Amino acid sequence: MEAFVINGGKPLHGSAAVSSSKNAILPIISACLLTTEECLIKQIPGLDDVTGMCELVSNLGAEVKVNGRSRRIKVCARSLTGHTADYELVSKLRASFLVMGPLLARAGIAKVALPGGCPIGSRPVDLHLKGFEAMGAEIENGHGFIFARCPNKKLKGATIYLDFPSVGATENLMTAAVLAEGRTVIENAASEPEIVDLASFLTKMGAKITGAGTDTIAIDGVDKVYGVEHAIMPDRIEAGTLMTAAALTGGDITLTNVVPDHLKPVTAKLRESGIEVIENKNSIRVKGIARPSALDIKTHPFPGFPTDMQAQFSAYVCFAEGTSMIVETIFENRFMHVNELRRMGAQIRVDGRTAIIEGIEALQGAQVRATDLRAGAALVIAGLAAKGTTEVIDIHHIDRGYEFIENKLQRLGADIKRV
Ligand code: UD1
Repeated sequence: MEAFVINGGKPLHGSAAVSSSKNAILPIISACLLTTEECLIKQIPGLDDVTGMCELVSNLGAEVKVNGRSRRIKVCARSLTGHTADYELVSKLRASFLVMGPLLARAGIAKVALPGGCPIGSRPVDLHLKGFEAMGAEIENGHGFIFARCPNKKLKGATIYLDFPSVGATENLMTAAVLAEGRTVIENAASEPEIVDLASFLTKMGAKITGAGTDTIAIDGVDKVYGVEHAIMPDRIEAGTLMTAAALTGGDITLTNVVPDHLKPVTAKLRESGIEVIENKNSIRVKGIARPSALDIKTHPFPGFPTDMQAQFSAYVCFAEGTSMIVETIFENRFMHVNELRRMGAQIRVDGRTAIIEGIEALQGAQVRATDLRAGAALVIAGLAAKGTTEVIDIHHIDRGYEFIENKLQRLGADIKRV
């Protein structure tokens, strides 16, 4: 089993290019199922989750050619040979549920394993299903699977109000609506940048979509969509993670391949804690200080503070001067990193969805376990700034969403190695 061994206390310096977004590419690979023509996806991140999604669409009949060197994937779903996403893949990769929309749209039938629980919460799919039903799909749930079918072969446009602006539900319904009959309107839709990237991919394919990036998205169904080329947007969570690491180690780094507007909540919180952040068109510079000040943070859907940065900021404020309060409003069990940070000496109390963190001068290196992707990233950040050696185990979670994070950190001067 692999682990990261980190000798803390080295400020990060230099520049690094941010990889493309994991959360943007997964729905886009899935959306390739909408067309019989070949799609070329460029600037792919080399991540385990991307491999998982390629495996899934290939099980459904798509021909997938991955060229790691040129960072491209070609997906051609000339014909679909299946409509089932098995539990083995869905349990590893929750985003597998995103094939339901394209399968229903193209084949009128889809059988996808229920994602079940995951470490950060129960993560139901009721909003996805209500939306498909509103579009005329019949849904059955049995033996651990959701079975959906369109009695009339084609979905029908509908107005769908989401009780919560779920990213996954918005993406699944958008892709389902592309080939539906008539107009679909998604109200209280998610407005994350990854939704905009998906809309831009679908629009290139020939879909008629307006309002992506706002809380109301309208999709006018078309008969057919086509193969296209698309370059994936930069990963705002990887960027935010590296920014936090630089700030915490008192470093000075410049990140390229970023969209500063996507990082506004992270930038605002770093600045509030005393860090200098300089935004340019496609790059961002972060200059750390000796010790940041405490912060109060509440996670919200975009453009609020992202839940995917909560764990990293929990680690950050462990070192801050003063008491911080972090409230997690999106997932009910997203404080798995707290027990591990406590093993490093962090002073954290958790009450329900709130963590109160008393900052101390430095954490101490210890052996800690990555319990999920972002919790793992938080432990890496903590280790980079801690006194002594930190060993992070179970790093397969980190590899799901960060492309060889140790290489990037080493180039920035960190003492981290994979063992
Ligand atoms: C996506 C991101 C994930 C991020 C999350 C929130 C991907 C692959 N993953 O996950 O990194 O943390 O957005 O920004 O893009 N919910 C329901 N019913 C549903 C759907 C969701 O109750 O049908 C709830 C969830 O349990 C959760 C909240 O809504 O509490 C947000 O979930 P959602 O926005 O759907 O997250 P994901 O798409 O799973």
